[in-house]
Amino acid sequence: MSTATGTNTAIGRLDSPLADKIHHDGSVYAGVEPNEAWAAEIRRLAAERDAVILAHNYEIPAIQDIAHHVGDSLALSRIAASAEQSTIIFCGVHFMAETAKILSPEKTVLIPDEAAGCSLADSITAEQLAEWKSEHPDAVVVSYVNTTAAVKALTDICCTSSNAVDVVESIDPDREILFLPDQFLGAHVRRKTGRDNILVWAGECHVHAAINGDQLTAKSESHPGADLFVHPECGCATSALHLATEGAVPADQVKILSTGGMVDAARASGAREVLVATEVGMIHQLRKAAPEVDFQPVNDRAACPYMKMITPAALLRSLAVGADEVHVDAATADAGRKSVERMIAHGDPGDGE
Ligand code: 13P
Ligand code: SF4
Repeated sequence: MSTATGTNTAIGRLDSPLADKIHHDGSVYAGVEPNEAWAAEIRRLAAERDAVILAHNYEIPAIQDIAHHVGDSLALSRIAASAEQSTIIFCGVHFMAETAKILSPEKTVLIPDEAAGCSLADSITAEQLAEWKSEHPDAVVVSYVNTTAAVKALTDICCTSSNAVDVVESIDPDREILFLPDQFLGAHVRRKTGRDNILVWAGECHVHAAINGDQLTAKSESHPGADLFVHPECGCATSALHLATEGAVPADQVKILSTGGMVDAARASGAREVLVATEVGMIHQLRKAAPEVDFQPVNDRAACPYMKMITPAALLRSLAVGADEVHVDAATADAGRKSVERMIAHGDPGDGE
């Protein structure tokens, strides 16, 4: 097996007959099919390592299906905080694994490919936040969980898409808020809370920003009667609400939801057809939750390249060699923990199973 930069064998290598097939093709770990032999090997290695496998709703179906828990950012953070196992394998992106490490510093946290980053988390650095804070010394800093540990260390309270409105509503209405880094989620929170003292950082996720209003309007016109599920990071979130205000789609058929909120709404939906504006991996959990509903992506090319780095080969390698281990230095983790603990205390239980 080729070993990648960052591979950490200090926590122990486990024997696996499939491991010799794994290679890095320059972009991702490859060479292993997600068949029954692979699934059996993943289950065996996870048990031997005392590991719980968590997968975000945007992972490929094979990874979602082998995970012990699948969910949105908030649900997975809560599961990571309370997991009994000594090791967490986070099939998601780096900030999610870092958040798990901040919450459970005593546990070993592994991500199958540490190169799985996030364009939204990259849209603000700790230095930029420190400068912004210095211009607004009395403001409360609310950071989306899609941020680095260093940014969380400068944050008063974190949020996810499923509890951002609750979090902001918990803050004294007279206090100014610095909301970062997602401009579309920030606009959604301003709309929902009616507060005009929220300053929003101009960051975005390149996958969701590319799901635009024109695509949503065209899709909605060609699928009359369909419900719309829209993630608040999308460039089309404002257009979705315009469609509702103009009566093009009845208001009760337009729902702005986190990925976990979409699974809950799918279970409760009486719709025949639902147009889904978010990353395409989401469709798998929606179809499992409500097989009778026809779920159609608004943009079927909206795939997160980072989430898709968690391949079957990467997960097998992670369990076999104990890599890539996620470290957050103790001072940063201690500084960020309170903001993340406040986040998991807010909002509904969140969808994760
Ligand atoms: P959720 O919190 O809705 O799962 O979203 C996470 C994310 O990264 C969206 O791009
Ligand atoms: Fe980050 Fe966007 Fe990928 Fe979510 S979909 S992990 S916000 S790059």
